[in-house]
Amino acid sequence: MEATTSLLDAAAVGDLVLLDPLTEESLLHTLQERFRHSDIYTYIGNVVISVNPYQSLPIYTPEKVQEYHNCNFFAVKPHIYAIADDAYRSLRDRDRDQCILITGESGAGKTEASKLVMSYVAAVCSKGEEVDKVKEQLLQSNPVLEAFGNAKTIRNDNSSRFGKYMDVEFDFKGEPLGGVISNYLLEKSRIVRHVKGERNFHIFYQLLAGGSAQLLQQLKLHQDCRHYGYLNRESSGLPGMDDAANFRAMQDAMRVIGFSPAEVTALLEVTAVVLKLGNVQLSSSFQASGMEACSIAETQELQEICQLIGLDPSILEQALCSRTVKARDEMVRTTLSVPQGYYGRDALAKNIYSRLFDWLVNRINTSIQVKPGKQRKVMGVLDIYGFEIFQDNGFEQFIINYCNEKLQQIFILMTLKEEQEEYIREGIQWTPVEFFDNSIICNLIENSKCGILAMLDEECLRPGVVNEDTFLTKLNQLFATHKHYESKETQNAQHVMDASLPSQCFRIHHYAGKVTYNVTGFIEKNNDLLFRDLSQAMWASQHALLHSLFPEGDPQKVSLKLPPTASFQFKASVATLMKNLYSKNPNYIRCIKPNETKTAMLFTPELVLAQIRYLGLMENVRVRRAGYAFRQLYDSFLERYKMLSPRTWPRWTGSHREGTEVLLADLAFPPEELAFGHTKIFIRSPRTLFDLERRRQERVAELATLIQKIFRGWRCRTQYQLMRKSQIIISAWFRGHMEKNKYKQMKRSALIIQAYARGWKARRAYRRYFRSGASTRLANFIYRRLVQKFLVGLARNLPPLLVLDRTWPPAPYKFLADANQELRSIFYRWKCKKYREQLTPQRRALLQAKLHASELFKDKKALYSISLQQPFQGEYLGLTQNPKYQKLHAVAKDKLVMADTVRKVNRANGKAVPRLLLLTTEHLVLADPKAAQPKTVLSLGDIHSISVTRFSDGFLALHLKETSTGGAKGDFLLISDHLIELVTRLHQTLMDATAQALPLHITDQFSTRFPKGAMAITVVESDKVGSNIPVCKKRGSNKMEVLVH
Ligand SMILES: Nc1ncnc2c1ncn2[C@@H]1O[C@H](COP(=O)(O)OP(=O)(O)O)[C@@H](O)[C@H]1O
Ligand SMILES: [Mg+2]
Repeated sequence: MEATTSLLDAAAVGDLVLLDPLTEESLLHTLQERFRHSDIYTYIGNVVISVNPYQSLPIYTPEKVQEYHNCNFFAVKPHIYAIADDAYRSLRDRDRDQCILITGESGAGKTEASKLVMSYVAAVCSKGEEVDKVKEQLLQSNPVLEAFGNAKTIRNDNSSRFGKYMDVEFDFKGEPLGGVISNYLLEKSRIVRHVKGERNFHIFYQLLAGGSAQLLQQLKLHQDCRHYGYLNRESSGLPGMDDAANFRAMQDAMRVIGFSPAEVTALLEVTAVVLKLGNVQLSSSFQASGMEACSIAETQELQEICQLIGLDPSILEQALCSRTVKARDEMVRTTLSVPQGYYGRDALAKNIYSRLFDWLVNRINTSIQVKPGKQRKVMGVLDIYGFEIFQDNGFEQFIINYCNEKLQQIFILMTLKEEQEEYIREGIQWTPVEFFDNSIICNLIENSKCGILAMLDEECLRPGVVNEDTFLTKLNQLFATHKHYESKETQNAQHVMDASLPSQCFRIHHYAGKVTYNVTGFIEKNNDLLFRDLSQAMWASQHALLHSLFPEGDPQKVSLKLPPTASFQFKASVATLMKNLYSKNPNYIRCIKPNETKTAMLFTPELVLAQIRYLGLMENVRVRRAGYAFRQLYDSFLERYKMLSPRTWPRWTGSHREGTEVLLADLAFPPEELAFGHTKIFIRSPRTLFDLERRRQERVAELATLIQKIFRGWRCRTQYQLMRKSQIIISAWFRGHMEKNKYKQMKRSALIIQAYARGWKARRAYRRYFRSGASTRLANFIYRRLVQKFLVGLARNLPPLLVLDRTWPPAPYKFLADANQELRSIFYRWKCKKYREQLTPQRRALLQAKLHASELFKDKKALYSISLQQPFQGEYLGLTQNPKYQKLHAVAKDKLVMADTVRKVNRANGKAVPRLLLLTTEHLVLADPKAAQPKTVLSLGDIHSISVTRFSDGFLALHLKETSTGGAKGDFLLISDHLIELVTRLHQTLMDATAQALPLHITDQFSTRFPKGAMAITVVESDKVGSNIPVCKKRGSNKMEVLVH
């Protein structure tokens, strides 16, 4: 928000009241300058002047709405939103009904302005489902009314062809409740005729372009505009206007407002009827009487119309072609001429359309009206056609300009009134000022006795010959000396030569300029007659809507009274409007059209100057300045200017008024320049205000410099302090870091030095012992390496695991010899152990026996080495197989250890006889081989010892104990083929049985004991005997030689 926007903006002052000097040129220049800067809004006090930019400006955004919402009117750039906000707040907060009067030429932007006001109010008032619905309905009334009431004119592509006044009603909280729309004087002549380059009302083009094929068929319409006489048989093309889209928007809007589909259809049907009426062609025919009459040239269109409205075509045909007139209490039907017929047709079309438009407005009103009984505040928005000065001005222009004249009157009166009231309110003395009061013109037109309108009505109602000439003559008589009235006649009377004023015309000096009106058509338009037959025909139709539009067509209600004239109606409605406006607080938006060509941002000074004049802007400014040019509430004034006095700056503690007084006293303005009201300060001339503003600007600049200076100083200081603080922190950290690094370095160096020193010391001490131990260490190391290598090598090359293989690698070094030997025996023992573990018990026993044999005989007896190869079989006889030995078997039982054949040496002669020998675990049995009968059974315990020779013979002596039972026979001398086995087993068995070793003598000489005494036995080596069979020779009685080899 530009709170400090200067009121003296160099480009142009935002408020023209402050213009100095005030001339037309300066005013025009200001507007132009502002326009050039896209400032299209300018104030005169609280009146907004809006210059149409003809291009969309970015000043209507939601952000802008926010900016102007609750703003200070004079603190922000002039804007239509500012005035809307001011009005809305005044309505809401001060409970004052408002009206917003928007005036200006056609195309100056009135309708846009009214929409902006509405949308602003809608945007700022509160939200809620119900409120939104109401808002939407109010806003959506625009597209509907625009479709039916707007048309393209040369000046404006979307020109409103009716006057509109809309009352928006609010509740006490400022929430919209609904509204009422009033419409004024629809330009219905446009229905039947319009200038080339303009168009008929939008709705026709919209319907044809946007209606679906089905709808058009239903309405019996052709899509092509060129088909229709009322559309000038031209194509619709209008750049920048999408008729089809607008049609859809209009339909949507109707839905939002609450039109039922049936209502919409009925509305469009009546619209179609109007369009089709224009195509009803009449042709002349002659009656039997010879009178010229008219008839329908082509009945197709007429029939279609009648189908649409549910009417007998003949009724309509009759109504169009003839007329009933009352002649002496009798109704007489007369035929019409073709022009009369066309007149009737066009009048019907115009009437249908204008009544339809009224119905439309009423229908919208029923939707948006507020339920009675609610307390409400009203904001009225008036968007009415502006002052019109054409080349050829007719009745419509006269009426329109009359309305504008009235608005100007209300403007002057209310501006002044307000001004006056304010002075009274504020307790200020008021000296009236001169200004142009246009009531004289208003009076000229509307005076009920001798005003122009009254004269017109009089002429219309007067019996006898009535035409425009008589009317003009009457005017000339009446206003011959009127300052604001002129005609050829009055000019002639005053000897004025004026070629611009034709004789059929009169001229009125309106406040906005002189306008010449042509009286042609005044009477007819004022009468606005519709033949009764036509209204009755319409009333007779089945179409409910159309029927309702023509209540006077009811034959029961036929009255002879003529309907009120157009001017009468208009005057009445203007009077109502004025009354309405007087009761409200007015806000003005005065629209200016900057060029005739609708060109964006083009400013034609002459054109604008003309509008400045007829809008009376200069007067507006003057009126505003007549008293005091400027006024402001004390608090805002003090706030704005308090810096101009050291006593009020920077803070004033007293009341605002006192502050203002002190302030202005300090500034020493002449006292007549100022007036102190109750709540406001008034400043008479703009110059004073400018002076104030200039001083303020200077002071603001000074203050700004001061603030800047202090701020810059403060900023630099704080920045410096911050930098300094930072610098200290940084340098502290940096120094700390440096020192830390240095310390670390020193510590590292000290450690290194220390380490060196310690090392040096240690080395020196160590060196003394170093050499003594070195050789042992080295040798140990080498030994260990060698041993390791030897063991690893050994593990890799172990000899085969055979028991009999005794190979073993030699020790590689001498010092390993013992260990190698040890390892070898360990390995061998381990090999044997392994071997033993895998032996069967039999084999084991056998080997044990063999071992035993070796213990007994190895290296002692030659036979041993021979016996090595022989396995110990034990059983040589086959006791079990041979049945002969059954007895022996029984003796042996299962305790048999050995059974063999031996030879027994006879003691007497030394001869040897075969005997069977059985060795059991308990006995030794000798048996006769033939009988197989035991001869001798010796208990093992009886055996005392055994003697054998050294040689390889099988001789053995079995010495018995003297006490034994068998001992009686004496010792036995035996020869066995398996001596080694026999002795070994005997020895073993005895050992097992008695745990005593059997004494074994290996000797060459021994004695035996026989019953006949002892006998010495000598072993003699002899070559004569066989290898293992000894020969015993008796030498004497108690000597015996045993020859062995
Ligand atoms: N404030 C505005 N910003 C942009 N264009 C505008 C503005 N006011 C009016 N116009 C343009 O001028 C045209 C005529 O305005 P409109 O309000 O219909 O004129 P009026 O109602 O006075 O005859 C609009 O169609 C629009 O193009
Ligand atoms: Mg308009």
